[in-house]
Amino acid sequence: MAFPTETVYGLGALARDDAAVARIFAAKGRPAHNPLIVHVADTAAAREVAHFDAIAERLAAAFWPGPLTLVLPLRDAGLSPRVTAGLPTVAVRVPAHPLARALLAAVGASLAAPSANPSGRVSPTTAAHVLDELSGRIDAVLDGGACPVGLESTILGLSPAPVLLRPGGLPAEALEAALGAPIARRDEAAAITGPGQMVSHYAPAARLRLDVRDPTPGEVHIAFAAPGPFTLTETGDLHEAAARLFATLRAADAAAGPGGAISVAPVPDRGLGRAINDRLRRAAAPR
Ligand code: TXA
Ligand code: MG
Repeated sequence: MAFPTETVYGLGALARDDAAVARIFAAKGRPAHNPLIVHVADTAAAREVAHFDAIAERLAAAFWPGPLTLVLPLRDAGLSPRVTAGLPTVAVRVPAHPLARALLAAVGASLAAPSANPSGRVSPTTAAHVLDELSGRIDAVLDGGACPVGLESTILGLSPAPVLLRPGGLPAEALEAALGAPIARRDEAAAITGPGQMVSHYAPAARLRLDVRDPTPGEVHIAFAAPGPFTLTETGDLHEAAARLFATLRAADAAAGPGGAISVAPVPDRGLGRAINDRLRRAAAPR
């Protein structure tokens, strides 16, 4: 069943139910080597599936519930082996959305949930986005309206030093302030630890040009800090831009049509802007 989180909609299955987890991979067309995030009700439940060190405890206390995923050593908690794709680590987070929390409380168990989109496509931030691409392949979607953050969670590896595996809805600056130290970014050249780090991802059908101040006639232009039919924010507010990013990409893609082209204005590369630019670069990458 799909459900809203504060970041994007997830497609959930009981994390201990192997057949249910298999259905997630089938519905998304997701490669079996790409592990899922385990969603839990609270830090106590997270400690049942993963080993927490002092840094993990500190970050959980500071940022959960919220848009932070921690990759930690896996405990033997009876999770379907498909959830972790055979890795010795597990990605875990406590979502903040009231419907996600109500669902976790109602089932009384952890839920494995990737974003509720076909593999490689733009993540859904409304129930309608979920149904557009997964209708007929899933049992249901809980409609909680538009997701307030609009970008997937920030993923931090602790092995044991903190490594930013995916920029996301929690700005890296907030993590660095809590840790009192700069966080290493995953070396782009290093082995892929999670296919969310694959270069081409979040792909619309149209071609995408970035950092465009003067759009070419015929291009659908996505503006930043300016009005327009497709704008991430009129005011330059990065929270608003993040919340609108995926819906705007979908709308621009539909307007551009098959073989069409989209251009996007420059987005400041700080705070949530870094995660926005990460998603835009992946959407623009050659496929
Ligand atoms: O905000 C979010 O994180 C949303 C909502 C639904 O919670 N979920 C989400 O899931 O974005 P998904 O599957 O689209 O992205 C999860 C990413 C993938 O890139 C996966 O490779 C990575 O997390 N991942 C999962 N387990 C991992 C692990 N043990 N080590 C490294 N990366 C991992
Ligand atoms: Mg995803």
